[in-house]
Amino acid sequence: MSQPQRYMVTSALPYANGPIHIGHLAGVYVPSDIYVRYLRLRGRDVLWVCGSDEHGVPIALKARQEGCSPQEVVDRYHELILKSFQDFGIQFDHYSRTSRPIHHQTASDFFLRLHHDGQFVEQSQQQYFDPEAGQFLADRLIKGTCPHCSNTQAYGDQCEKCGTTLDPTDLIDPKSSISGATPILKETRHWFLPLDRHEGFFRQWILEQNKDRWRANVLGQCKSWIEQGLKPRAVTRDQDWGVKVPLPEAQGKVLYVWFDAPIGYISATKEFTPDWEKYWTDPGTKLVHFIGKDNIVFHCIIFPAMLRAHGGFILPDNVPANEFLNLEGDKISTSRNWAVWLHEYLQDFPEDTHKDALRYALTASAPETKDNDFSWREFQARNNNELVANLGNFVNRAMILTHKYFDGKVPAAELGQAEREVLDQIPELRAQVEANLEAYRFRDAQFQMMNLARLGNKFLAESEPWKLAKTDMARVAAILNTCLQVMANLAILAEPFLPFGTAKLRQMLNWQPQDWEQAGAQELLPAGRPLGQAELLYTKIEDDKVQAQLDKLQRAKQANLLAQVQAPPAKEPVPFEDFAKLDLRVGTILEAARVPKAKKLLRLTIDTGLDKRTVVSGIAEHFEPESLPGQKVCLLLNLPPRPIRGIVSEGMILTAENPDGSLSLVQPGPTAATGALVK
Ligand code: 2FM
Ligand code: ZN
Repeated sequence: MSQPQRYMVTSALPYANGPIHIGHLAGVYVPSDIYVRYLRLRGRDVLWVCGSDEHGVPIALKARQEGCSPQEVVDRYHELILKSFQDFGIQFDHYSRTSRPIHHQTASDFFLRLHHDGQFVEQSQQQYFDPEAGQFLADRLIKGTCPHCSNTQAYGDQCEKCGTTLDPTDLIDPKSSISGATPILKETRHWFLPLDRHEGFFRQWILEQNKDRWRANVLGQCKSWIEQGLKPRAVTRDQDWGVKVPLPEAQGKVLYVWFDAPIGYISATKEFTPDWEKYWTDPGTKLVHFIGKDNIVFHCIIFPAMLRAHGGFILPDNVPANEFLNLEGDKISTSRNWAVWLHEYLQDFPEDTHKDALRYALTASAPETKDNDFSWREFQARNNNELVANLGNFVNRAMILTHKYFDGKVPAAELGQAEREVLDQIPELRAQVEANLEAYRFRDAQFQMMNLARLGNKFLAESEPWKLAKTDMARVAAILNTCLQVMANLAILAEPFLPFGTAKLRQMLNWQPQDWEQAGAQELLPAGRPLGQAELLYTKIEDDKVQAQLDKLQRAKQANLLAQVQAPPAKEPVPFEDFAKLDLRVGTILEAARVPKAKKLLRLTIDTGLDKRTVVSGIAEHFEPESLPGQKVCLLLNLPPRPIRGIVSEGMILTAENPDGSLSLVQPGPTAATGALVK
């Protein structure tokens, strides 16, 4: 027998400075898990690695902010990420981490080999240096004023307010985030990978050889990079957290995180098996990188250039990069806490059926060709209408009826035309699922797989065996036998997408398929075979669960708004005597009514402790008049009376402006008495 096709599959190493969210899952981990499960079912020789990306400035920065070591930061997140992947059923062959000695050794050797072979150019450049901290500053560690929008908090590499990419020297009034000192420019020496030397190769390999094989979004980014002319890229940094540059003259320098991280794929493979080389050097192996769109140039140009420069390695066969997933119409953001975190999802939805539900919803709206959106309502609808009402309902009904009429055994049956028509469609559906998976179209593949469930469900509902049971048991047997064969096919074809439900389905059928090749067959389950117990395959997600998630997001949005508020500049000082002239008091609102034809105004009657007076206030757009009577307010009493829209107003109530522009009443505490002075 010929050897099975060999695959080396990698998934982007997540940075160990935050938890995994649904954007990571939809972009990288769910599609790669589907793909690898499929390859395994087909008996291919596949090795799938991932691991934590534990170097880089953001990690060092986070450690500094939290007052701990970078190792402590990555230890914490590595554990959290690893556990959440495991609990969610993402089954890498090996999940490693780049702080391990084997990775430092591998990355270091890789660098030395390129150095000895003359694959780098060395160049000196001027870079910002913190004279107080005595160290060079990464771009992220410099803050200053953006020359484009005057944001005073812009970083050396980017202004997050206007989105402009910056060079640290663009910043006005730059400051070191470490010491607050003004940085000075100082000369430093770095090693550069001259991508320009490889430009001809990339033109040919990507823009010619792979132009009909790689995704359009991937080709688009590569093309634009190549067209701008490939330039030397620095692969070293002046920093202390990372893989040390293994040269005596490179004290205080580490490998740039994007140089060491992809080598992490190789070190993870080495760590997993002594037989690692065939996965990285044999031209018969297909190397496939699963990544998000922000990683495209690193995996399609920079890492392949490193592999070429080193020699002896294969290059990626494909890089099925996804676009981004948004959440409820807004960009997912760790710093704004606008995300659905995997570890929190697993706490809120611990059942296995809801792990499948998330995989299913993320695949159904996978950002394969363009950015896409995740919404909780859509998630709920996909679970309830598709997994529960379609697949789950079909399986459940067929199981229960078989137990009822045939003692829980696959009934012997003479199939009629209607049954044959159903079963005859399975090979074509299998072919569709397969073709889409081979082409990395996971959304379409899942849709075709669900078409098989739809087919079964429709057939069962329309043939109504429960009505035929009194008159035609032979037909009932044929119908249920057909349904059970459809279910057995689903127990194969659905596994890559819905591993938890499929495991349960196999248990219910009391049958374990051998491999993918069986799919399409019409008699997977022989007559007389006893089935397991009927169970619910999927369960509904109720409105309150979804509402709780929406509320959580709302709270995040609110907290963000509050965090963003920039207090208005301070006013001129006033003498105390001026302040003391103000008659501020606790008042109680007695009545509130809209002022006719003035959409902003309310007419309030307020008990001041001294009298009951009328105040016209511009708060009608922020408060319903019915909500106000009985509320205590702070009132400025000694303003001169002023007619507003024909009503004389004798005071002013105090309000505070909220971040979203709405108003809050400034209210005294519950024990304050009406008429009390505010001072
Ligand atoms: O973008 C990221 O999250 C990176 N940590 C991905 C690294 S992928 C690989 F090269 F290691
Ligand atoms: Zn700006």
